[in-house]
Amino acid sequence: MRIMVTGGAGYIGSHTVVELAEAGHEVVVVDNLCNGSHEAVRRVKRIVGKPVQFVECDIRDRQGLDAVFNQHTIDAVIHFAGLKAVGESVGKPLAYYDNNVNGTLVLCEAMAAAGVYRIIFSSSATVYGSEAPVPYLESMHRGTTSNPYGTSKAMVEKVLEDLAAADERWSVALLRYFNPIGAHPSGLIGEDPQGVPNNLMPFIAQVAVGRRDELTIFGNDYPTKDGTCERDYLHVVDLAVGHLKALKALEVPGVSVYNLGTGQGVSVLEMVNSFTRVTGVEVPYRFGGRRPGDLPAFWADASKAERELGWTTEKNLDDMMADTWRWQSANPQGYAE
Ligand code: NAD
Ligand code: WQD
Repeated sequence: MRIMVTGGAGYIGSHTVVELAEAGHEVVVVDNLCNGSHEAVRRVKRIVGKPVQFVECDIRDRQGLDAVFNQHTIDAVIHFAGLKAVGESVGKPLAYYDNNVNGTLVLCEAMAAAGVYRIIFSSSATVYGSEAPVPYLESMHRGTTSNPYGTSKAMVEKVLEDLAAADERWSVALLRYFNPIGAHPSGLIGEDPQGVPNNLMPFIAQVAVGRRDELTIFGNDYPTKDGTCERDYLHVVDLAVGHLKALKALEVPGVSVYNLGTGQGVSVLEMVNSFTRVTGVEVPYRFGGRRPGDLPAFWADASKAERELGWTTEKNLDDMMADTWRWQSANPQGYAE
């Protein structure tokens, strides 16, 4: 298939482009590089040893998208492009709704005009909201989201559901990611956040490589196994493979929803200890207060993806740690080297 990957110069997108290209698909990356990098695309080409088309374009630029659809016969779109910093979204709600929601509307209009009706959307476990019991199951309703980022994901899910209800040519896969971490085993591509990392794994990696002094663990008084929060971390390469499998779900019209996670909760302390055990590198940390909005613990019931797509995670926590460290130690400043 020929697949347009929006946001393909970013973290999850670049890893997915590798898996797509290695499976024989042709890929056209569309990215405005607001958080992605040219260098990531160059390195993807190095890993796969074949060309990958790249178009620098904002998904809100309808003319730009039309030009891409005119130039390439696209079979399906995998839609990663969006802003993803939860804290920033609280201060800049309009930027988040514009980029994530309006951007998706423009993309879908351009797709329909080009006769392309298959889309995989990067959704998030955050759409289950703060009240859902664990493990999260796709059959549960979307809950109340607590920040504009999460709300933008829930809104886009609803938009795509309404679109599929209105026109049966659409097929939509909503993939709800849990906590992707790790890097390609080559060490050539990985997560490269701008500024201070918001997320745990890149923060640990930057402390380990000497870019930051210590990790602050946000809270050790939660009702969990060791008092720190638990999350469902999955290897980004497994997540990327999930997209390949989800292309199958697009063969039938309508909407399908899949959790992509391991089904296991891992605590912040377990993450730090596991990093040190696997890499031999100490990560100095101290306990700080709780981060507003954090939930104590959640993880996926990922059995639907296994049943219907034949997808299950293959890499374990040690792989996630080893691969994160291979990437970070070889690229201490990320792609800016
Ligand atoms: P990322 O920031 O590394 O990648 C997003 C890419 O989209 C970047 O390359 C950026 O330049 C591009 N982009 C943003 N706005 C754009 C626009 N208007 N037009 C064109 N390109 C644009 O983030 P990621 O971690 O790879 O996440 C990819 C997707 O998965 C996002 O939609 C994110 O919300 C979602 N998601 C991520 C996580 C996570 O923990 N990383 C979890 C759940 C869902
Ligand atoms: C994991 C755990 C923190 C940093 C967020 C978004 C979610 C999403 C993925 C997109 C928590 C703790 C973190 C630090 C810490 N993606 N932590 N010190 O919060 O589960 O999810 O990213 O859709 O929507 O909310 O992931 O990596 O930020 O945090 O102690 O410096 O690590 O408190 O318990 P989270 P995270």
